[in-house]
Amino acid sequence: MATTGDKYRVWADVEARGVSDLYFDWAIGVAADEDLLELVDELPAVKRQPNLVFASARVAGVPLLPYRQARAEFIARWGTIREVALGHATRTNEARRCAVLLPEFANIAGPIALLEVGASAGLCLYPDRYAYRFVTDSGTHQLQPVGGSSVVLETVLRGRAAPTRLPEIVWRAGIDLNPLDVREPASLEWLETLIWPEHDERRRDLRAAASVVAAEPPLLVAGDLNEVFEDVATLAPADATLVVFHSSVLVYLTPDARASFIRTVRASRAVWISNEGKSVLPEITQQLPSVTDNGTVLAVDGAPVAIVGPHGQYFSALGSS
Ligand SMILES: C[S@@+](CC[C@H](N)C(=O)[O-])C[C@H]1O[C@@H](n2cnc3c(N)ncnc32)[C@H](O)[C@@H]1O
Repeated sequence: MATTGDKYRVWADVEARGVSDLYFDWAIGVAADEDLLELVDELPAVKRQPNLVFASARVAGVPLLPYRQARAEFIARWGTIREVALGHATRTNEARRCAVLLPEFANIAGPIALLEVGASAGLCLYPDRYAYRFVTDSGTHQLQPVGGSSVVLETVLRGRAAPTRLPEIVWRAGIDLNPLDVREPASLEWLETLIWPEHDERRRDLRAAASVVAAEPPLLVAGDLNEVFEDVATLAPADATLVVFHSSVLVYLTPDARASFIRTVRASRAVWISNEGKSVLPEITQQLPSVTDNGTVLAVDGAPVAIVGPHGQYFSALGSS
């Protein structure tokens, strides 16, 4: 079985390499540090993930320095790191994912009732309130709501024409095990800390999107998506197309719980849009061509349509490369 050290090494290579030099260095450093691995292994398994441990270390005051300089602080502040990790969970809420969902949302005619499972603070429930810059081979295409938006989300769009309209969203709701309220400073601060150190642009998008959400908070229902989905879905207006979506959520469920959710959503009247890592939904991944980009899989009603950047950095339509 993979040890915690193995997992940190894989995480460094797959998640952090080229994305965050500091987290790459920290993960490689921890992976080779028996003392720290012993401390990490004292945490419950679900709390050992690098993203949570590193965010907790930052809250505890570990300086953003290379591991060999920061190591002593990891050890000295471990008590606080541990407390923060035990009291928090990763809930990274990435408004930019709206930029890669938009090409599909914009294809849906008529009013939409939008329901996100695993919505965190609900930032992805407002795709109609944000402005977009789609960078394509033929130039950059902009799209914005009437009156503009303080949130401008940029993505590279390959193999698909840039959307020319925003979706008409008449109802929006989210479900999360533990929804965050962006009007609470501590929640916003935690969401900011979950963003990797070098990613100032993501922090800027987070703050701007949080003010959009705070001005008109969505219905956010606390609960397990398998337990409350049907109750929340029935609240959606019947004369709107119900669109259910999720990004980087089902990875937190057991395979049985994922299968149960898929059965339920397929039996509902909803259009189902999923955006999950390749290992999460094998029945979708097995439909992919053998060579694809290294991102998450965007699928509509179980059919893959694009590989997208994990934080919404790009949308590569399948069959386009
Ligand atoms: C990585 S965050 C992604 C948030 C958001 N979907 C986004 O793309 O920005 C995953 C979210 O899924 C939620 N989650 C995990 N398991 C869940 C479950 N069984 N039921 C409801 N929400 C869940 C977590 O609380 C967390 O907020």
